[in-house]
Amino acid sequence: MGEVLVRPMRAEDVAAAEQLSGEAFLALDRQVYRRDEPDPQPRTAEHRAGWVARTRHFLDTDPGGCWAVDDADGTMVGFATSIRREGTWILATYAVRPGRQGRGIGKQVLDAALTHSRGCLQGMLSASDDPRAVRRYLLAGFTMHPQMHLTGTVDRRAIPADTGRRVREGTPADTELMDSLDRRARGAGHGPDHPMLQGLFRTIVSDTTAGSGYAYLGATGAVVLLAASNRRTAQALLWSAIADGPAEQTIGHVTGANDWAVAVGAAARLDVRTRGYLALRGLRPPTTYLHHGALL
Ligand SMILES: CC(C)(COP(=O)(O)OP(=O)(O)OC[C@H]1O[C@@H](n2cnc3c(N)ncnc32)[C@H](O)[C@@H]1OP(=O)(O)O)[C@@H](O)C(=O)NCCC(=O)NCCS
Repeated sequence: MGEVLVRPMRAEDVAAAEQLSGEAFLALDRQVYRRDEPDPQPRTAEHRAGWVARTRHFLDTDPGGCWAVDDADGTMVGFATSIRREGTWILATYAVRPGRQGRGIGKQVLDAALTHSRGCLQGMLSASDDPRAVRRYLLAGFTMHPQMHLTGTVDRRAIPADTGRRVREGTPADTELMDSLDRRARGAGHGPDHPMLQGLFRTIVSDTTAGSGYAYLGATGAVVLLAASNRRTAQALLWSAIADGPAEQTIGHVTGANDWAVAVGAAARLDVRTRGYLALRGLRPPTTYLHHGALL
C-alpha cells in the first residue's frame, strides 16, 4: 500500500464521497447479486440527493465521527461516517475505492471513526455482504445478525379489513413520542435525525390504548424505519404502509427478532430473501423495530 493520509472529512468532500460510495457499492452488488434478481444499477438522482443530505447532516452533528483517506496526490480513496446518539455509536456508511480495497485502507479509516465510539456502551451498523466489511466489524467486536428482505407482488386480498383505522399522519409534535419509542426499542433516541427524516419522508403514527408506534415511508411507500411498543402496533403500521404502497414492494432490514414482520410478509405472499447483517455491540437485536440502513 502506498502512503495514505487519514483526515477529518469536510463539507466540501461530500460530493466526492457520494461518488466513491456509489462506485464501491455498485461494484460490490455486481459481485454478490443473485442471478434471479435484476442486474444492479447505478444510484438514481433521488438516492444520491438523499445520501448527500444525510451526510451533510452527519458532518453537522458529528464532525468527529466522519473521516476521509487521501492518496499521496490528494484523491479520496476511502471514508467512513459515524454518529453518536445517547450513548450508541452508529456507523452510517463506509467505503474504499474499488481497486484499492483489501490492502488496509479500510482498517485505518474505520479505526479513526471508532475513536468517536469511545464512551459508548452500544454500537449498531447495517453491514453489506462484503466479507472484507464483515471481517472488519467482527474484529471491532460486533456480532452479526443476518438480515432478510421481504419482496414481491403484494396479495392485496390479505390486507386486513381494518388496516389504517388506528394509523394517522405524523407531525413534528410526535417527535418526543418517537424518541421514547426508539429508546425502548434500541436504547437511544434518534434526536436530531427526526427533523431531518420528517423533512425527507412521509411519517405515519399509531398512538392508542392498544400501543404506540411510528414509521417513515420512502418515495415508493416502503418502510425506511419503524418503531413500536408492541407487535400488534408494529404489524398495524406495516400493513398500513403495504396497503398504501405499489403492487411490487420490498420490506428491508428484517432480522430473526422481527418475526412479526416476517409473518406480515408471508401473509402478503412476499418472498423471503437474505441480504447483509445487522451488526451490534452491547445490544441485542431490537424486536418491534425495523432499522434505517444508515441512521439505524
Ligand atoms: C468494506 C471496505 C470499506 C473495507 O475496506 P478495505 O480497505 O477493503 O479493508 P481492509 O483491507 O482494511 O480490511 C479487509 C480485511 O478483510 C481481509 N480480506 C481481504 N479480501 C478478502 C476476501 N476476499 N474475503 C475475506 N476477507 C478478505 C483482509 O485481509 C483484511 O483483514 P486483515 O486486516 O485481518 O488482514 C471495502 O472493502 C469496501 O468499500 N467494500 C465495498 C463497500 C462496502 O461493503 N462497505 C461496507 C458497508 S457496511
